Amino acid sequence: MTVVTATASGKIILFGEHAVVYGQPAIAAPVTDVRATVQISPPTQADSDHILFIAPDLGANYTLDNAPEDDALARAVQLTAELYPGSLPPMIITVSSDIPIASGLGSGAAMAAAMFRALGQFLHLPPLHQAETICQLTYEIERIHHGTPSGIDNTVVTYEQPVFFQRQQPTNRIDRLPVGQPLTLLIADTGQRSATKDVVGDVRRQWEANPAKFNQLFTQCGQLTLAAQTAIAHGQQAELGHLLSQNHALLQQMSVSNEALDRLVAAAAAAGALGAKLSGAGRGGNMIALVTPTQQTAVQDALYQAGATNVIPTTIHPTL
Ligand code: PMV
Repeated sequence: MTVVTATASGKIILFGEHAVVYGQPAIAAPVTDVRATVQISPPTQADSDHILFIAPDLGANYTLDNAPEDDALARAVQLTAELYPGSLPPMIITVSSDIPIASGLGSGAAMAAAMFRALGQFLHLPPLHQAETICQLTYEIERIHHGTPSGIDNTVVTYEQPVFFQRQQPTNRIDRLPVGQPLTLLIADTGQRSATKDVVGDVRRQWEANPAKFNQLFTQCGQLTLAAQTAIAHGQQAELGHLLSQNHALLQQMSVSNEALDRLVAAAAAAGALGAKLSGAGRGGNMIALVTPTQQTAVQDALYQAGATNVIPTTIHPTL
């Protein structure tokens, strides 16, 4: 068995986070410049009986047998074992990622997808060569992080395409998103970590306490997503920027923004961004700003001045 390596990209949600959990459509895109990487190699003599996990960035090193119960990497191996004829061979699984964790960029989903891809190659396991299976299994891992994930993160990360996504029975609606013109976005980090599961749980409590208000907010998010789909297809950037800012206002009403996110959104707008919003679960993590190439540097500088700990520029390229 030879050494194999697989990766998966991060993601941003452009429209519809939270509302997507309640069946409204949402739009998300991969961020291919930041990735999770998994390398699997045959064991060395000293650890020849074990499946060993190594995360150099975290200083972590443990075997499958002594992994914590809710460990996502161990769970991925266990799910793979259910598909594998016989018992899994020993191996060394080394993971790394440049996607910031707990910040709305899909780090957990990317790590899981990279893990299943690498296991598929290392074990020559045909089901793990299929995107659909990777997507489903990654969803199972997302349940550890999220509780009730909508399915959007695992979908974007697996297919690495901008998607229009709607959670529905019996199968989710996943459409490729036509993109008429390149979209330049800046992704700015508040530096604050936020657990998606907690924020999603809190939105659920608020929805239960005030269903009329929250159903209306979710419906309005869905309408923005539909309008954005058209604007993206036709390259209507000014309109798109406007829709992003409107989505941020709805997220504020759900109480998932915070002072740091609002500060970055305001700074982007003041520096000439076409629109800006938080992206992902909120209460920390990242925000996104839509810019024209000429505004990019000014908005990037303004974001750093307003306290961003990191700014990642990314481009969503036109599709047919
Ligand atoms: O993982 P995050 O922080 O990007 O949040 C995912 C988006 C939510 O809509 C808040 C939750 C979900 O499962 O869709």
